[in-house]
Amino acid sequence: MDPNASGLAMRLAEAGQSHLLQFWKKLGPKEQADLNHDLQGMDFKEINGFFQKAMETSSSSKQEKMDARMEPVPREVLGSVTRDRESLKDWELTGLHCISQSKVAVLLLAGGQGTRLGVSYPKGMYDVRLPSHKTLFQIQAERILKLQQLAEQKHKIKCCIPWYIMTSGRTMESTKEYFSKSNYFGLEKNNIIFFQQGMLPAMDYSGKIILENTGKLSMAPDGNGGLYRALGNQSIMDDMERRGVGFVHVYCVDNILVKVADPSFIGFCVKKGADCGAKVVEKNNPTEAVGVVCKVDGRYQVVEYSEITLATAEKRSADGRLMFNAGNVANHFFSFSFLKDVVQKYEPQLQHHVAQKKIPYVNGEGQLIKPDKPNGIKMEKFVFDIFQFAKTFVVYEVLREDEFSPLKNADSQDAKDTPTTARHALMSLHHRWVLNAGGHFIDENGRHVPAIPSLKDGTDLPIKCEISPLVSYGGEGLEDLVKGREFHPNVMIDEMGVHELVKNGV
Ligand code: UTP
Repeated sequence: MDPNASGLAMRLAEAGQSHLLQFWKKLGPKEQADLNHDLQGMDFKEINGFFQKAMETSSSSKQEKMDARMEPVPREVLGSVTRDRESLKDWELTGLHCISQSKVAVLLLAGGQGTRLGVSYPKGMYDVRLPSHKTLFQIQAERILKLQQLAEQKHKIKCCIPWYIMTSGRTMESTKEYFSKSNYFGLEKNNIIFFQQGMLPAMDYSGKIILENTGKLSMAPDGNGGLYRALGNQSIMDDMERRGVGFVHVYCVDNILVKVADPSFIGFCVKKGADCGAKVVEKNNPTEAVGVVCKVDGRYQVVEYSEITLATAEKRSADGRLMFNAGNVANHFFSFSFLKDVVQKYEPQLQHHVAQKKIPYVNGEGQLIKPDKPNGIKMEKFVFDIFQFAKTFVVYEVLREDEFSPLKNADSQDAKDTPTTARHALMSLHHRWVLNAGGHFIDENGRHVPAIPSLKDGTDLPIKCEISPLVSYGGEGLEDLVKGREFHPNVMIDEMGVHELVKNGV
């Protein structure tokens, strides 16, 4: 294990990374063995190459704004739940048919570290304090289960939606353990396939790998676009092929409203003959820091808010909407053959993006330093980096209040995208489902509560309503339970029926 004898010291010297062994002699045998193991598995030439390319791209993209090269998404590739109402049923039926043929798989991106939320366990295990206390994973699992049932009932055929779950070195074990303990939430164990994305070291600005302690490198997952490499090197594409998967819905773990394997979205993409599709929500504030889907030099991509000038961000079309309003929510459709091409041919062309971060490190004396300003970079690929390779790209616009409420930050006074906002978003949606199905809410005096709640600052929702995904996937099938009925503003609907919950007793 001597780094000189094994050739490791030489490899590190050639790559300019010899400092990684600077504390070697002070490490105990176990620490030496661990460090040796980590270093032996790394391709330093490749990592240095990633660093150089990422830094070059990042500095050239800082100089030049994209504005002149951008075009908005043309109407003919756009489907919209508000502007194409007459086609929705048809799309949904097409999607449901594909699901019934077991041609649709879902792929969950759950390899992130959830740094901003600040919990030590995987984000999917987070409980946003719904009355049921279901976690994000459980909500998604039950939506899959329900959708399978809907497709089976409609087409009188047994089907399955395989669920591919990408984790990282940091989240794999706890995620698997949680699923096993929860009995896979009623899904077939064999149809849930866990796989692991790669990790990359954090580097300082001169390209030196950072040590987080004397015997350990600072490592982070290689971004949600690490998906494509992981799909290839863990034989996931082979698994999909064996199962006859034709279409894949890719989504993020943190969106509490996500319509997993959304039949309308899938049906729309299939009908359009798309190889790649992006679900978007309307960006309506020019300064909102969300990436927009658009064409750049004739190819589709996501352009970040920081890459355009305010003048372009503020441009409006004749209908008064922002011209670049297709807000990306990392929710995508891929045909299997497109995904296979990406994994086999295009992945190596993807470049890492640079994220400047405050990265704890050990100094020359072996002391841990926690910097108060960014001191290095993490390198990440993004899931949407592959749009450029699509031959038939489509965009599907949905309502933010119905489909997008991500959990990013811990609760605090002014924070966005918190457990509270996620919980409110889900309960408001379910409140609207009850109203649409002909139910009503009444206050303590027996008066109907207005459909649009007025939120006083700091107060919780006036109506708390949670509907189990096992009862309804997207608002369907509720009439028998709620039509013509009046509910107090604290209600939960699950497979056992309708439960009025005691005030504040949830
Ligand atoms: P975010 O970029 O919001 O990151 O991920 P995060 O890990 O959830 O949170 P922060 O930034 O550390 O606070 C968006 C989605 O991409 C996944 C996440 O799990 C989430 O579903 N992701 C992110 C990965 O799967 N792998 C990664 O390397 C990064």
